[in-house]
Amino acid sequence: MKIFVGITGASGQIYGGRLLRALHSGGHEVTACFSNGSIEVIRAEDLAGAGLEGASREEVINAFLDSHGLAGEDIASAAPDDMSSPFASGSFLAAASIICPCSMSSLASIACGVTRHLVHRVADVMLKEGRPLVIVPRETPLGEIHLRNMLRLKQAGARMVPAMPAFYHRPRNVDGLADFMAGKIMDSLGIGHDLFQRWNGLEGNER
Ligand SMILES: Cc1cc2nc3c(=O)[nH]c(=O)nc-3n(C[C@H](O)[C@H](O)[C@H](O)COP(=O)(O)O)c2cc1C
Repeated sequence: MKIFVGITGASGQIYGGRLLRALHSGGHEVTACFSNGSIEVIRAEDLAGAGLEGASREEVINAFLDSHGLAGEDIASAAPDDMSSPFASGSFLAAASIICPCSMSSLASIACGVTRHLVHRVADVMLKEGRPLVIVPRETPLGEIHLRNMLRLKQAGARMVPAMPAFYHRPRNVDGLADFMAGKIMDSLGIGHDLFQRWNGLEGNER
């Protein structure tokens, strides 16, 4: 499957990293677009103290991918200002697009049909073409504007999968929490995975 993954500047870049890893290991053809906001959050959250203070955008992305067991060549990369990307056109048959995590700023842009960068354009295209778009918003608490934008996008055909990991699969670490979200995103697209143990009743889940 040709899948576009937009990673925007919300907390929890690890959700995007674990998703990229799972899609790549599932044999999918993945193109990722890291917004400038995403690069800032990766610097602040994921790679803080990694000696990458003066690093270029590409170096940050490669270090991020490496921290998720991926090499630069495993995932195709699209620049946020590249409106000539195939994914920016409805005539290119993308199977699905996922925005993970999705900032409230990107959520608002998409809800209003405003393209500030490639992630927004791809989302707009998926909605107009009636193709699968999964949005993974991350903010708390949620204000009225955030909630209205989410409802608007759901009504326009997006699948809303908020970054709200569960605990019933008894995650042992942060990767386990992020893998749960990656699995729920893949579930929403009907993509098979083995990222977490499914709930099977109280007895079924005893270990
Ligand atoms: C460390 C850090 C964490 C952030 N976390 C969030 C967040 O969880 N949710 C959110 O909506 N914005 C968050 N922001 C703000 C966005 O990054 C900012 O609005 C940015 O302009 C979003 O642009 P983008 O959606 O194009 O990436 C955060 C910013 C920083 C620096």
